[in-house]
Amino acid sequence: MSFRKLPTHDKLKNLADKQQGFSLLEAFTQDPDRAVKMSLEVEGLFFDYSKNLIDKTVMNHLFDLANEAGLSKGIEDMFSGEHINVTEDRAVLHTALRSPKGKAWSYNGEDISKKIHKVKDSMGAFAKRIHDGEIKGVTGKALTDVVNIGIGGSDLGPAMVYEALAENKRYLKAHYVSNVDGFHLEQTLKELNPETTMFIIVSKTFTTQETMANAEEAKNWLVQALGKEAVSDHFSAVSTNLEAASSFGIDTTRVFGFWNWVGGRYSLWGAVGLSLVIVYGISVFEELLEGAFAMDEHFRSAPFEKNVPVISALLGIWYNNFLDFESYAVLPYAQSLGRFPAYLQQADMESNGKGVDKQGQKVDYETGPIVWGEPGTNGQHAFYQLIHQGTKIIPVDFITSVKPMSTYEDHHKKLVANCIAQAEALMKGKTAEEAEKEMVKQGMTLEAVKQLLPFKVFNGNRPSNFFLFDQMSPKNIGALISMYEHKIFCQGWIWNVFSYDQWGVELGKQLAKEVLISMEKGDLSHDSSTSGLIRRVVG
Ligand code: F6P
Repeated sequence: MSFRKLPTHDKLKNLADKQQGFSLLEAFTQDPDRAVKMSLEVEGLFFDYSKNLIDKTVMNHLFDLANEAGLSKGIEDMFSGEHINVTEDRAVLHTALRSPKGKAWSYNGEDISKKIHKVKDSMGAFAKRIHDGEIKGVTGKALTDVVNIGIGGSDLGPAMVYEALAENKRYLKAHYVSNVDGFHLEQTLKELNPETTMFIIVSKTFTTQETMANAEEAKNWLVQALGKEAVSDHFSAVSTNLEAASSFGIDTTRVFGFWNWVGGRYSLWGAVGLSLVIVYGISVFEELLEGAFAMDEHFRSAPFEKNVPVISALLGIWYNNFLDFESYAVLPYAQSLGRFPAYLQQADMESNGKGVDKQGQKVDYETGPIVWGEPGTNGQHAFYQLIHQGTKIIPVDFITSVKPMSTYEDHHKKLVANCIAQAEALMKGKTAEEAEKEMVKQGMTLEAVKQLLPFKVFNGNRPSNFFLFDQMSPKNIGALISMYEHKIFCQGWIWNVFSYDQWGVELGKQLAKEVLISMEKGDLSHDSSTSGLIRRVVG
């Protein structure tokens, strides 16, 4: 059913209209147990959502909305392999990739867990042979570097997790090359020795322009240094298109497959994670999967009132559709999660940035929000000004851990103090009276106080979620990613859009091919702006 026609939709609209006077500070004063009531603990994650612009009535209505949208059925449809990716006629079973050995997973009458674990075992064995020095470069030298060539879901997930797991022992160094800007590949190759470098060409389709261009160039670089016969020793591939990978010249024993029921941006958990298995070993990768699986189980079984992904999705819907906040910021207070906002941009915006509903009708409500962010504390010295005093309200997800990632424990105290303080500051703000008092105390003249006062006031009442892990372990990173994946699923389901296709990226790809031909042929038959740009570029 259309999102706007859900019976509770209009009730929430009315509640939102009445929200104008809602004060977070008052809500905390009225109910000293608010934080206890509005927080959950799941598998190493403490989720405090008490600093949101909600009360019990709003939450109950949001749960009703989820029920009316048939969310429970949606969850079961996804896990049971229904073709919920309708426009591509595919199931959505990335969750099967993290299901533990021995747990059968039936899809189309087949136990797919067997082939999933077969690929995973072969990834583990491949990595181990590299670590043991059995697999070497063509000249007999041990491999030291692995270059993952891929883009979008074939890059962002592994690149993000590579940094996130940096605390663990690395057997090799990894590099992630995605952009068709040759600068990316060239700068990466400059640092590398062909004799000790392994390339992994990662592409679900094995047709993506950027990846193919980078793969060909990497092959040239290798062949120039070591000759044609070196390719099979220095290249491996990950794809659903095994034929294309082997016709590129990659030894079939080094091609790791996955299946069309795994979406590109949800593919980190299988063969797309090969670079991580080579760098960190299979057991660390398994821990990542274990955490994701634990979150899957929580998501599938917990009642909505105690379900972290569901609550976080509903809060997002409250802001996006009823309070008209257009974006949210994800602010990890963990340098190791530096690439997490970029990863989440694809996961969220490519999934739910849709303008037509499942019936093909143009939607008359907001769908996917704009996602952005940077690690704290860096962001504090950049864009937090707008979050605190700007005209837009930006709900924030703070993410941090109790345990430090470094041996500098004092740094960590400061880091976490900043994170907690930012959440408090956004909520509390600073009144004119408080600001005035402060300035008078600093010895400022009354004239100066009067002049500066408007600039020193913080309205506060700005919402945030707080995700606190005991530590940034592989397991917890897995749970974090899985939490967001499910949040995105819930939102797409309730908005009645297809979250697992991405037709919106096609037009640009198509026109890029045409513009390239126009540039080569000097064809200036486009509009005057496009032709003008082509003329300037080709000279
Ligand atoms: O351009 C969008 C997209 O199709 C993403 O969904 C995908 O993750 C990325 O391109 C890369 O695709 P592939 O893995 O097929 O090269």
